Amino acid sequence: MYSTDEQRRLFDLSKSLLQGRQADLFSEPPAQTAEDLRQVLQYHEWRYYVQNDPVISDFEYDLLYKQLEALEREHPDLITPDSPTRRIGTDLMENAVQVNHLIPMLSLDNSYNAEDLKAFDESVKKLCKLGADTDIEYCVEPKYDGGTIVLVYENDRLVRAATRGNGYTGDEITANMRTLRTVPLKADFSRHGIFKTELRGEALIRKDIFEKINAVRLSAGEQTFANPRNAATGGLRMKDPREAAERGLEAFIYQLGYATDEQGNNVLGKFRSHDESIHLLGSLSFKTPLVKASADQHLPATKSCRNIEEVIAFCQSWQEYRDEYPYELDGMVVKVNSLELQERCGYTSHHPRWAMAFKFKARQATTRLRDVEFQVGKTGAVTPVAKLDPVPLAGVTVQNVSLHNEEFILSKDIRIGDQVLVERAGDVIPYIVKSLAELRDGSERPVEYPKNCPVCHSPLVKPEDEAVWRCENAACEAQVLARMIFHTSKAAMDIEGMGESTIERFYKLGWLHTITDLYRLEYDKVAQLDGFGEKSAANLRLAVERAKQNPIHRLLHSLSIHHLGQKAGKLLAAEIEHVLDLKEWDMERYQQIKDVGPVLARNVYNFFQNEQNIALLQEMEALGVNMKQTPEDMKADVNTDGVLYGKSILFTGTLSQMTREEAEKRAASAGASIASGVSKHLNILVVGEKAGSKLKKAQALGTVEIWSEMEFIERISN
Ligand code: IVH
Repeated sequence: MYSTDEQRRLFDLSKSLLQGRQADLFSEPPAQTAEDLRQVLQYHEWRYYVQNDPVISDFEYDLLYKQLEALEREHPDLITPDSPTRRIGTDLMENAVQVNHLIPMLSLDNSYNAEDLKAFDESVKKLCKLGADTDIEYCVEPKYDGGTIVLVYENDRLVRAATRGNGYTGDEITANMRTLRTVPLKADFSRHGIFKTELRGEALIRKDIFEKINAVRLSAGEQTFANPRNAATGGLRMKDPREAAERGLEAFIYQLGYATDEQGNNVLGKFRSHDESIHLLGSLSFKTPLVKASADQHLPATKSCRNIEEVIAFCQSWQEYRDEYPYELDGMVVKVNSLELQERCGYTSHHPRWAMAFKFKARQATTRLRDVEFQVGKTGAVTPVAKLDPVPLAGVTVQNVSLHNEEFILSKDIRIGDQVLVERAGDVIPYIVKSLAELRDGSERPVEYPKNCPVCHSPLVKPEDEAVWRCENAACEAQVLARMIFHTSKAAMDIEGMGESTIERFYKLGWLHTITDLYRLEYDKVAQLDGFGEKSAANLRLAVERAKQNPIHRLLHSLSIHHLGQKAGKLLAAEIEHVLDLKEWDMERYQQIKDVGPVLARNVYNFFQNEQNIALLQEMEALGVNMKQTPEDMKADVNTDGVLYGKSILFTGTLSQMTREEAEKRAASAGASIASGVSKHLNILVVGEKAGSKLKKAQALGTVEIWSEMEFIERISN
């Protein structure tokens, strides 16, 4: 166990070692640096393997590891027997039965970019004594992020299963593995001359099943798992095999590590290549990277690449695709395909020299929360924004992250000065997962929520039915600016060239006070500004003139009325001749429109009862902004009265009465949205002839209505 002080020291030391490496500024003697690296690596291994709760990203761990490796390479005298580079990580449990693997299960070396992979390719060629211009064939497959398993079959029967442990010895988990449907209890190895064999693979939990497990745990008041990997590694070791079975573990096998005949002779030599051995395992009913994980997986999980360029392209495609794959991956594994060449490459004490992991960009990182700022939005909502020490994350540098509202900050006990864990998955906006309370030194302070608007200082209020505090002063400078920025944005009036920075600039020059001023600009003055000139000023004028002719649904949307979005703008526009007609409407009249609820009705009603707002609109009209309904306003995009309104629909197979395109058009005009694939969000699947995997998937989901083409035609004609 590490004390809080010790953890903090090791954490700070890790960060300074990471920075030192970037700046190349080691002032400490190498022996001290080596000792520091050993200590921090040991600490992070404990957080990762024992606590299942790492405080730095895998990427940062690897950087530290590589520093130590490099240092030991330069100063071999600094190597100690307890150095983390001398062993391969352990997840052994104290009370479990331990078994020796038939051959050691090493780790993998890691790479992060194309250069690393090219360097790996060069080293393979050197080790194999091949010319620099020969192409090496590689097999590339997912690097599954679950729990490692090692299976032993003897005489065609599963006789033993174990975890990876320390690479030489693992915890015995045979009973649990026997419950997995993906682990054949009997496999016909003898037909291929194999009597005893050791297979390596990964036990995984599918992401959607993981979500369900957590939902159940949450409702039962139990602690949830941080990620599918933790749920899987925990599942491997359940005391009761029935519980292990319930966890939905699946075994993917990615390596035939050992194979002997009845006399004990090595028969691995029968295989020419890695992919040949994987095909054999596939034919014996093992789940391998060869199988598609879902019907609509469009990228194969494994590929034999002719050279390193193909490897790089394939790895990059998977980096993009990873979020669509139903299982968690943390990278790809690149393996020299020929077993003969693998042998020529050999091994270090840590990893095979013929394989390389290509790690995907980290999605999590720890960094310091410097401060919290409060931003006022267009409707007055005050949002706390975390100001972080800039940190690279999945390809971008993150330094501002929304903290949403007060409740979010309180529930996560986030304090200024904390180390926080930030995550950015796929295209998702970065968010703060948690603060690392154990690393506090006492200097952290709670986030103080302001009582007054940080910009106009009027008192903030928190409406009962809302989670946010609001500034209710509509004339607040921050709100005025935010509303102008929204007014001109693409979604609203779409005035090209009038973005955030231009508006802020004009505002500072005193040219803009209300949105009406956007239509009163003096373009000869604009032309004089640095970076503008005649042409840009003329273009801006043109964009403003064009916007004046917009259909009124855009204008309605652009007014920043809370809850009035694009769709509500269209619904309202279709009901009026002139925008100012709404002055005469009462609350009931709004609610006669389908899909307009009481909250929106009240907001719009209040807006149009306000004299100032009416004056603003009248001024705009005088400046030439269109206020009258146009044909486009009548043509609501979404047919909210359609029989399929609110439903998502998908067509599969060959239709006999119409083309797929026509069918989709008719579904859309009946109000449906057209789905791109079968998922739990799909409502209706219309099946034509020869429907295949989509139908099967929808049936398996059990939540999708399945219609014939005739049924579809009947429904939309009614
Ligand atoms: S090959 C001699 N292939 O990565 C090394 N490992 O090994 C043989 N892993 O925890 C490993 N997916 O469980 C290999 N397709 C794959 C893999 C894979 C995941 C894991 C493995 C182990 C770590 C390093």
